[in-house]
Amino acid sequence: MPNMIYGTAWKKENTTKLVEDALLSGFKAIDTACQPRHYHEDLVGLGLENAFKKGIKREDISVQTKFTPISGQDVNNMPYFTHDDIIIQLEKSFLKSKENLKLDFIDSYLIHSPFNPIEDMVKVYRTMEEFVQNGEVGQLGISNCYDLKLFIYLYDIAKIKPKVLQNRFYADSKYDKELREFCKQKDITYQSFWSLTANPHILASKEISDLVKKYEKTKEQIFYKFLNQIGITPLNGTRSKEHMKEDLQIDEFVLEENEVDCIKSLLN
Ligand SMILES: NC(=O)c1ccc[n+]([C@@H]2O[C@H](COP(=O)([O-])OP(=O)(O)OC[C@H]3O[C@@H](n4cnc5c(N)ncnc54)[C@H](OP(=O)(O)O)[C@@H]3O)[C@@H](O)[C@H]2O)c1
Repeated sequence: MPNMIYGTAWKKENTTKLVEDALLSGFKAIDTACQPRHYHEDLVGLGLENAFKKGIKREDISVQTKFTPISGQDVNNMPYFTHDDIIIQLEKSFLKSKENLKLDFIDSYLIHSPFNPIEDMVKVYRTMEEFVQNGEVGQLGISNCYDLKLFIYLYDIAKIKPKVLQNRFYADSKYDKELREFCKQKDITYQSFWSLTANPHILASKEISDLVKKYEKTKEQIFYKFLNQIGITPLNGTRSKEHMKEDLQIDEFVLEENEVDCIKSLLN
Protein backbone atom coordinates (compact mmCIF):
# COMPACT_ATOMS: atom_id res chain seq x y z
CA MET A 1 0.00 0.00 0.00
CA PRO A 2 1.23 3.58 -0.64
CA ASN A 3 2.12 5.81 2.32
CA MET A 4 -1.21 7.69 2.40
CA ILE A 5 -4.73 6.48 1.65
CA TYR A 6 -7.69 8.55 0.52
CA GLY A 7 -10.67 7.93 2.85
CA THR A 8 -14.20 8.14 1.44
CA ALA A 9 -16.46 8.20 4.50
CA TRP A 10 -19.17 10.88 4.83
CA LYS A 11 -18.61 12.32 1.35
CA LYS A 12 -22.23 11.62 0.30
CA GLU A 13 -23.04 12.73 -3.26
CA ASN A 14 -19.58 14.32 -3.58
CA THR A 15 -17.91 10.91 -3.30
CA THR A 16 -17.53 10.34 -7.07
CA LYS A 17 -15.88 13.69 -7.76
CA LEU A 18 -13.64 13.50 -4.68
CA VAL A 19 -12.39 10.01 -5.52
CA GLU A 20 -11.65 11.16 -9.06
CA ASP A 21 -9.89 14.30 -7.74
CA ALA A 22 -7.86 12.26 -5.25
CA LEU A 23 -6.65 9.82 -7.91
CA LEU A 24 -5.88 12.56 -10.44
CA SER A 25 -4.03 14.49 -7.71
CA GLY A 26 -1.78 11.50 -7.13
CA PHE A 27 -3.33 9.36 -4.39
CA LYS A 28 -2.56 5.70 -5.09
CA ALA A 29 -4.88 4.11 -2.55
CA ILE A 30 -8.60 4.44 -1.78
CA ASP A 31 -10.40 3.21 1.34
CA THR A 32 -14.12 2.53 1.56
CA ALA A 33 -16.60 0.06 3.12
CA CYS A 34 -19.79 -1.77 2.22
CA GLN A 35 -21.57 0.28 4.88
CA PRO A 36 -24.12 2.63 3.24
CA ARG A 37 -24.63 4.38 6.59
CA HIS A 38 -21.27 6.14 6.22
CA TYR A 39 -19.91 5.29 2.75
CA HIS A 40 -21.27 5.47 -0.79
CA GLU A 41 -19.25 2.55 -2.10
CA ASP A 42 -21.17 2.63 -5.41
CA LEU A 43 -20.08 6.27 -5.94
CA VAL A 44 -16.50 5.27 -5.14
CA GLY A 45 -16.88 2.80 -8.02
CA LEU A 46 -18.03 5.60 -10.33
CA GLY A 47 -15.10 7.77 -9.22
CA LEU A 48 -12.70 4.92 -10.00
CA GLU A 49 -14.31 4.40 -13.41
CA ASN A 50 -14.01 8.13 -14.24
CA ALA A 51 -10.37 8.18 -13.15
CA PHE A 52 -9.59 5.09 -15.28
CA LYS A 53 -11.15 6.84 -18.29
CA LYS A 54 -8.83 9.79 -17.63
CA GLY A 55 -5.69 7.67 -17.72
CA ILE A 56 -5.25 6.32 -14.19
CA LYS A 57 -4.19 2.68 -14.48
CA ARG A 58 -5.93 0.04 -12.36
CA GLU A 59 -2.62 -1.69 -11.65
CA ASP A 60 -1.16 1.53 -10.20
CA ILE A 61 -3.76 1.90 -7.48
CA SER A 62 -4.86 -0.05 -4.46
CA VAL A 63 -8.52 -0.36 -3.45
CA GLN A 64 -9.47 -1.31 0.08
CA THR A 65 -12.97 -2.08 1.35
CA LYS A 66 -14.54 -3.71 4.38
CA PHE A 67 -17.10 -6.25 5.55
CA THR A 68 -19.15 -4.40 8.17
CA PRO A 69 -20.91 -6.61 10.75
CA ILE A 70 -24.54 -5.91 11.75
CA SER A 71 -23.50 -3.75 14.74
CA GLY A 72 -22.03 -1.17 12.34
CA GLN A 73 -24.87 -1.20 9.81
CA ASP A 74 -28.13 0.69 9.46
CA VAL A 75 -30.48 -2.32 9.48
CA ASN A 76 -32.80 -0.57 7.00
CA ASN A 77 -30.02 -0.13 4.46
CA MET A 78 -27.39 -2.82 4.35
CA PRO A 79 -26.00 -5.39 1.92
CA TYR A 80 -27.45 -8.49 3.66
CA PHE A 81 -30.30 -9.50 5.98
CA THR A 82 -29.90 -9.63 9.77
CA HIS A 83 -31.26 -13.20 9.70
CA ASP A 84 -28.68 -14.39 7.14
CA ASP A 85 -26.09 -16.87 8.30
CA ILE A 86 -22.80 -15.07 9.03
CA ILE A 87 -21.06 -16.52 5.96
CA ILE A 88 -23.98 -15.51 3.74
CA GLN A 89 -23.69 -11.98 5.23
CA LEU A 90 -20.02 -11.89 4.25
CA GLU A 91 -20.58 -13.37 0.79
CA LYS A 92 -23.41 -10.92 -0.01
CA SER A 93 -21.34 -7.99 1.25
CA PHE A 94 -18.28 -9.04 -0.77
CA LEU A 95 -20.35 -9.53 -3.93
CA LYS A 96 -21.95 -6.10 -3.41
CA SER A 97 -18.51 -4.49 -2.94
CA LYS A 98 -17.24 -5.94 -6.21
CA GLU A 99 -20.44 -4.82 -7.96
CA ASN A 100 -20.27 -1.31 -6.40
CA LEU A 101 -16.60 -0.86 -7.19
CA LYS A 102 -16.94 -2.51 -10.63
CA LEU A 103 -13.87 -4.59 -9.81
CA ASP A 104 -13.20 -8.30 -9.80
CA PHE A 105 -10.12 -7.91 -7.60
CA ILE A 106 -10.03 -6.10 -4.23
CA ASP A 107 -6.49 -5.25 -3.19
CA SER A 108 -7.20 -5.11 0.53
CA TYR A 109 -10.23 -6.49 2.42
CA LEU A 110 -10.88 -5.79 6.09
CA ILE A 111 -13.27 -6.88 8.84
CA HIS A 112 -14.66 -3.45 9.84
CA SER A 113 -14.71 -4.24 13.56
CA PRO A 114 -14.38 -7.29 15.82
CA PHE A 115 -17.68 -9.00 16.64
CA ASN A 116 -19.10 -11.80 18.73
CA PRO A 117 -19.16 -14.69 19.03
CA ILE A 118 -15.47 -15.04 18.27
CA GLU A 119 -16.19 -18.34 16.46
CA ASP A 120 -18.20 -16.36 13.88
CA MET A 121 -15.35 -13.92 13.42
CA VAL A 122 -12.97 -16.82 12.82
CA LYS A 123 -15.43 -18.33 10.29
CA VAL A 124 -15.58 -14.99 8.48
CA TYR A 125 -11.80 -14.68 8.42
CA ARG A 126 -11.48 -18.25 7.09
CA THR A 127 -13.83 -17.42 4.21
CA MET A 128 -11.92 -14.22 3.53
CA GLU A 129 -8.80 -16.39 3.25
CA GLU A 130 -10.61 -18.33 0.51
CA PHE A 131 -11.17 -15.04 -1.36
CA VAL A 132 -7.39 -14.58 -1.33
CA GLN A 133 -6.79 -18.19 -2.40
CA ASN A 134 -9.30 -17.70 -5.27
CA GLY A 135 -7.39 -14.63 -6.46
CA GLU A 136 -10.23 -12.20 -5.68
CA VAL A 137 -8.45 -10.37 -2.82
CA GLY A 138 -4.83 -9.33 -2.36
CA GLN A 139 -4.51 -8.99 1.41
CA LEU A 140 -6.59 -9.15 4.60
CA GLY A 141 -6.92 -7.15 7.77
CA ILE A 142 -9.12 -5.77 10.50
CA SER A 143 -10.21 -2.35 11.73
CA ASN A 144 -11.26 -0.98 15.13
CA CYS A 145 -9.40 -3.70 16.99
CA TYR A 146 -7.90 -2.09 20.09
CA ASP A 147 -7.38 -5.31 22.03
CA LEU A 148 -3.85 -6.63 21.59
CA LYS A 149 -4.80 -10.12 22.83
CA LEU A 150 -7.64 -10.38 20.33
CA PHE A 151 -5.43 -9.18 17.51
CA ILE A 152 -2.72 -11.71 18.41
CA TYR A 153 -5.39 -14.42 18.56
CA LEU A 154 -6.54 -13.53 15.04
CA TYR A 155 -2.93 -13.43 13.87
CA ASP A 156 -2.21 -16.85 15.39
CA ILE A 157 -5.23 -18.65 13.93
CA ALA A 158 -4.79 -17.04 10.50
CA LYS A 159 -3.42 -19.21 7.70
CA ILE A 160 -3.11 -16.07 5.60
CA LYS A 161 -1.80 -13.54 8.11
CA PRO A 162 -3.47 -10.13 8.44
CA LYS A 163 -1.49 -7.39 6.69
CA VAL A 164 -3.52 -4.38 7.89
CA LEU A 165 -4.71 -2.96 11.21
CA GLN A 166 -6.80 0.19 10.68
CA ASN A 167 -7.53 2.08 13.92
CA ARG A 168 -8.47 5.48 15.29
CA PHE A 169 -5.22 7.20 16.26
CA TYR A 170 -6.03 8.89 19.54
CA ALA A 171 -5.04 9.43 23.13
CA ASP A 172 -7.81 7.23 24.62
CA SER A 173 -6.09 4.11 23.22
CA LYS A 174 -2.65 5.46 24.19
CA TYR A 175 -2.09 5.67 20.45
CA ASP A 176 -2.07 1.85 20.21
CA LYS A 177 1.58 1.76 21.27
CA GLU A 178 1.68 -2.00 21.90
CA LEU A 179 -0.46 -2.87 18.90
CA ARG A 180 1.80 -0.77 16.68
CA GLU A 181 4.85 -2.54 18.07
CA PHE A 182 3.25 -5.91 17.27
CA CYS A 183 2.43 -4.69 13.74
CA LYS A 184 6.03 -3.65 13.23
CA GLN A 185 7.33 -7.06 14.36
CA LYS A 186 4.93 -8.92 12.07
CA ASP A 187 5.17 -6.66 9.03
CA ILE A 188 1.55 -5.51 9.34
CA THR A 189 0.64 -2.02 8.09
CA TYR A 190 -0.88 0.15 10.81
CA GLN A 191 -3.34 2.54 9.14
CA SER A 192 -4.56 5.51 11.19
CA PHE A 193 -7.88 7.32 10.88
CA TRP A 194 -9.04 10.53 12.59
CA SER A 195 -5.33 11.33 12.56
CA LEU A 196 -6.02 15.07 12.34
CA THR A 197 -9.52 15.19 13.82
CA ALA A 198 -8.52 13.45 17.06
CA ASN A 199 -5.28 15.36 17.59
CA PRO A 200 -5.83 19.12 17.47
CA HIS A 201 -3.65 19.50 20.59
CA ILE A 202 -0.67 17.95 18.79
CA LEU A 203 -1.26 20.02 15.64
CA ALA A 204 -1.34 23.16 17.80
CA SER A 205 1.79 22.26 19.75
CA LYS A 206 4.99 24.31 19.80
CA GLU A 207 6.90 21.22 18.59
CA ILE A 208 4.85 21.17 15.36
CA SER A 209 4.80 24.93 14.85
CA ASP A 210 8.61 25.09 15.11
CA LEU A 211 8.83 22.49 12.33
CA VAL A 212 6.23 24.35 10.25
CA LYS A 213 8.60 27.34 10.27
CA LYS A 214 11.72 25.28 9.63
CA TYR A 215 10.39 23.23 6.70
CA GLU A 216 7.88 25.80 5.39
CA LYS A 217 5.16 23.15 5.38
CA THR A 218 1.68 23.13 6.91
CA LYS A 219 1.10 21.57 10.33
CA GLU A 220 -0.89 18.80 8.64
CA GLN A 221 2.01 18.02 6.29
CA ILE A 222 4.40 17.86 9.26
CA PHE A 223 2.09 15.54 11.19
CA TYR A 224 1.46 13.23 8.21
CA LYS A 225 5.21 13.09 7.58
CA PHE A 226 5.80 12.23 11.23
CA LEU A 227 3.24 9.42 10.99
CA ASN A 228 4.97 8.00 7.91
CA GLN A 229 8.35 8.18 9.59
CA ILE A 230 7.14 6.15 12.58
CA GLY A 231 5.71 3.53 10.24
CA ILE A 232 2.06 4.63 10.10
CA THR A 233 -0.01 4.92 6.92
CA PRO A 234 -2.62 7.64 7.52
CA LEU A 235 -6.03 7.77 5.92
CA ASN A 236 -6.71 11.25 4.62
CA GLY A 237 -10.32 12.43 4.51
CA THR A 238 -9.95 15.89 2.99
CA ARG A 239 -12.59 17.37 0.67
CA SER A 240 -10.15 20.02 -0.57
CA LYS A 241 -8.15 19.64 -3.77
CA GLU A 242 -5.58 22.03 -2.34
CA HIS A 243 -5.09 19.85 0.76
CA MET A 244 -4.85 16.73 -1.41
CA LYS A 245 -1.98 18.26 -3.36
CA GLU A 246 -0.22 19.63 -0.27
CA ASP A 247 -0.48 16.37 1.63
CA LEU A 248 0.99 14.39 -1.24
CA GLN A 249 4.04 16.68 -1.20
CA ILE A 250 5.32 15.20 2.05
CA ASP A 251 7.72 13.07 0.02
CA GLU A 252 9.73 16.25 -0.53
CA PHE A 253 11.24 16.44 2.96
CA VAL A 254 12.40 14.25 5.85
CA LEU A 255 12.20 15.09 9.55
CA GLU A 256 15.35 14.59 11.57
CA GLU A 257 15.38 11.78 14.13
CA ASN A 258 15.32 14.15 17.12
CA GLU A 259 12.35 15.99 15.59
CA VAL A 260 10.46 12.72 15.21
CA ASP A 261 11.25 11.90 18.86
CA CYS A 262 10.04 15.32 19.90
CA ILE A 263 6.59 14.76 18.34
CA LYS A 264 6.58 11.17 19.60
CA SER A 265 6.88 12.49 23.15
CA LEU A 266 3.45 14.12 22.66
CA LEU A 267 1.82 10.72 22.13
CA ASN A 268 0.75 9.88 25.64
N1 LIG B 1 -12.34 2.07 10.00
C1 LIG B 1 -13.18 2.95 10.52
O1 LIG B 1 -14.05 2.61 11.33
C2 LIG B 1 -13.09 4.38 10.12
C3 LIG B 1 -13.71 5.35 10.91
C4 LIG B 1 -13.59 6.68 10.54
C5 LIG B 1 -12.90 7.02 9.39
N2 LIG B 1 -12.33 6.05 8.62
C6 LIG B 1 -11.62 6.38 7.37
O2 LIG B 1 -10.66 7.39 7.61
C7 LIG B 1 -10.87 8.46 6.67
C8 LIG B 1 -10.36 9.77 7.24
O3 LIG B 1 -11.06 10.09 8.40
P1 LIG B 1 -11.45 11.57 8.83
O4 LIG B 1 -11.96 12.28 7.63
O5 LIG B 1 -12.32 11.53 10.01
O6 LIG B 1 -10.15 12.12 9.41
P2 LIG B 1 -9.03 13.12 9.04
O7 LIG B 1 -8.48 12.83 7.72
O8 LIG B 1 -8.18 13.07 10.25
O9 LIG B 1 -9.73 14.55 9.05
C9 LIG B 1 -10.21 15.17 7.93
C10 LIG B 1 -10.57 16.60 8.36
O10 LIG B 1 -9.37 17.36 8.53
C11 LIG B 1 -9.46 18.55 7.76
N3 LIG B 1 -8.15 19.01 7.21
C12 LIG B 1 -7.60 20.21 7.38
N4 LIG B 1 -6.43 20.33 6.75
C13 LIG B 1 -6.22 19.16 6.13
C14 LIG B 1 -5.19 18.67 5.32
N5 LIG B 1 -4.13 19.37 4.96
N6 LIG B 1 -5.32 17.40 4.88
C15 LIG B 1 -6.38 16.65 5.21
N7 LIG B 1 -7.41 17.07 5.97
C16 LIG B 1 -7.32 18.33 6.43
C17 LIG B 1 -10.41 18.17 6.64
O11 LIG B 1 -10.99 19.36 6.15
P3 LIG B 1 -10.90 19.73 4.59
O12 LIG B 1 -11.88 18.85 3.90
O13 LIG B 1 -11.23 21.16 4.56
O14 LIG B 1 -9.49 19.45 4.13
C18 LIG B 1 -11.40 17.25 7.32
O15 LIG B 1 -12.41 18.00 7.96
C19 LIG B 1 -12.36 8.39 6.38
O16 LIG B 1 -12.72 9.00 5.19
C20 LIG B 1 -12.57 6.90 6.32
O17 LIG B 1 -12.22 6.38 5.05
C21 LIG B 1 -12.39 4.74 8.98
